[in-house]
Amino acid sequence: MLHSYDRYPITKTLFMSSDFSTPSSLNHFSPNQLYDFINRRQSIGLLVEPAPNTAQLELAIAAALTAPDHHRLHPWRFITIQGEQRVAFGELLAKSLAEGGEIDPVQLDRVKQHPMRAPMILICIVQDQPHLKVPHYEQVLSCGAAIQNLLLVLQSQGFSSMWRSGAAAESAHLKRALGCAASDEIAGLVYIGTASKEIAPREPLNVADFVSEWHFG
Ligand SMILES: Cc1cc2nc3c(=O)[nH]c(=O)nc-3n(C[C@H](O)[C@H](O)[C@H](O)COP(=O)(O)O)c2cc1C
Repeated sequence: MLHSYDRYPITKTLFMSSDFSTPSSLNHFSPNQLYDFINRRQSIGLLVEPAPNTAQLELAIAAALTAPDHHRLHPWRFITIQGEQRVAFGELLAKSLAEGGEIDPVQLDRVKQHPMRAPMILICIVQDQPHLKVPHYEQVLSCGAAIQNLLLVLQSQGFSSMWRSGAAAESAHLKRALGCAASDEIAGLVYIGTASKEIAPREPLNVADFVSEWHFG
């Protein structure tokens, strides 16, 4: 269980030791370097030890907490699962699927093993904050941005990850067991660890296929 921000001064120290006082001092990376770094993020399904230590994980979560967040509602919560707790979590995933009507024992057994695919799992939750001007979907989007920030900082520390939802993520049973309200969402189970192998770089997409320019009339 992570404790309060103040207990782990590493991120504060790190941020305060940098000079962020002028816009030009923010340019630690050239745009191309930043793009290359983002482009190198790749999901890896099978992850091994080591997982991030407490300070490394906290830095990644601190980055998550900088996500765009309409009205600063902070609609994100994170739960870590590691070590032997993964076995119990596998049981919980299987129970959640069974509660949802799954009866195939092969499928249920498979799901029990899922948490063993990485040394650490971070459950990322949208904790819905009712607000007249910020609909639920904006809070979900904010959580998605938070997760991407997290993945990139993990990558910068040499770790790999895979953002999964899986069949159980929408299970009311799982949400209850995690202490979620009915209006909360499990945005992802982020599997975290160290890559066990290299994978081929992604094929670049053609930007022009996704962009058009609006003209009046
Ligand atoms: C919300 C969300 C849920 C996802 N759930 C799964 C999942 O359950 N299983 C899976 O194989 N990939 C899932 N993915 C996709 C992977 O995280 C990954 O993005 C995809 O395999 C493409 O690989 P890349 O991240 O290296 O581009 C999910 C992605 C998102 C954004």
